[in-house]
Amino acid sequence: MTIKRFIYRNMVLIKYFMYDFNRFRKWSSAVSGENTQEKMRARLILLIHSVEKGLSLEDVRLGFGFKNINMLIDFVKKYYVLYGYDYVVKMALDVLGAYLQYHNKQNHEVDGIQQLYDECLLQIKEFKSSNDTGVISVVKDEMYRDSMIDFRAFCQSRYSVRQFTDQKVPDDLITDAVSIAQKTPSVCNRQSSKVYVISDPDKISQVIKIQSGARSFGEKVNKLIITASDLSSFVSYAERNQSWIDGGMFSMSLVYALHSKGLGTCCLNWCKDNCVDKELRRSISISETDNIVMVIAVGFPKESFVVAKSPRKKIDEILFFD
Ligand SMILES: Cc1cc2nc3c(=O)[nH]c(=O)nc-3n(C[C@H](O)[C@H](O)[C@H](O)COP(=O)(O)O)c2cc1C
Repeated sequence: MTIKRFIYRNMVLIKYFMYDFNRFRKWSSAVSGENTQEKMRARLILLIHSVEKGLSLEDVRLGFGFKNINMLIDFVKKYYVLYGYDYVVKMALDVLGAYLQYHNKQNHEVDGIQQLYDECLLQIKEFKSSNDTGVISVVKDEMYRDSMIDFRAFCQSRYSVRQFTDQKVPDDLITDAVSIAQKTPSVCNRQSSKVYVISDPDKISQVIKIQSGARSFGEKVNKLIITASDLSSFVSYAERNQSWIDGGMFSMSLVYALHSKGLGTCCLNWCKDNCVDKELRRSISISETDNIVMVIAVGFPKESFVVAKSPRKKIDEILFFD
């Protein structure tokens, strides 16, 4: 490679990284702090999760998370003043209630927390405890009762489908699949994933054209899904790549969920130049704070059709036991 080409490639790579850098800097709270409702919600969920996680351990350390508990109480009050009562406030108060209940049962008083919690309840009058945040008890046999499907066969039966019928995909099938995908794990349960569904044929053609990897079969696509990950969910520098990880995991669950509903899917890459990313954002209504993770073509598969073989690598090329 010539020096000129080498320098050019490095410059382009920096340009791409700078695009992601600026988006992360602007829309996550790593640099700017919690200056929007979504960012505050993410911080709250992070704190809530630290408490529910502490309560879920085999040996719960009495008085654990004192600093986080204080921060959570402080933060939920601030949030309530700014944005009022909603499900995150409820989650926070429920988990604080669970924390106190646990310690009361152990006859352990955590310095001043009960008083701070009571003050909180006086301020947030809408709250009604439902004990649905904290921990749940799981019986192993019950947990595995519903997992005993042939998962290998299920996975092997999914293909990237590029041949669809004209049958319309009902919205409720998509809603159902998305609600299944919501069970996907995410960092500290922050659930950054979002799903944008495009049904209008003209809009579908427009996005297919911009995406460019489905031009040969795009006209048969009945619904186009865009999975995205909200950068407001991320709070620290170290989380700079987390939107792609959480978004990727969510997208995989969604593809499997759609497959389980009898729908064919084809993931379509969003490995795009910065200007193409901006072009899509101009064409569809998507929050500025969202990273686009991928596009998914959806439709009912034909009665019989052909798929690419896409053979997999040998397992010893990717699996290493120490
Ligand atoms: C993130 C991602 C992006 C993809 N982008 C495209 C694409 O732009 N066009 C396309 O026809 N297939 C695309 N695919 C499908 C892959 O080619 C396909 O998943 C792979 O060959 C494995 O085949 P299978 O899905 O049938 O198992 C994409 C898949 C993923 C996961």
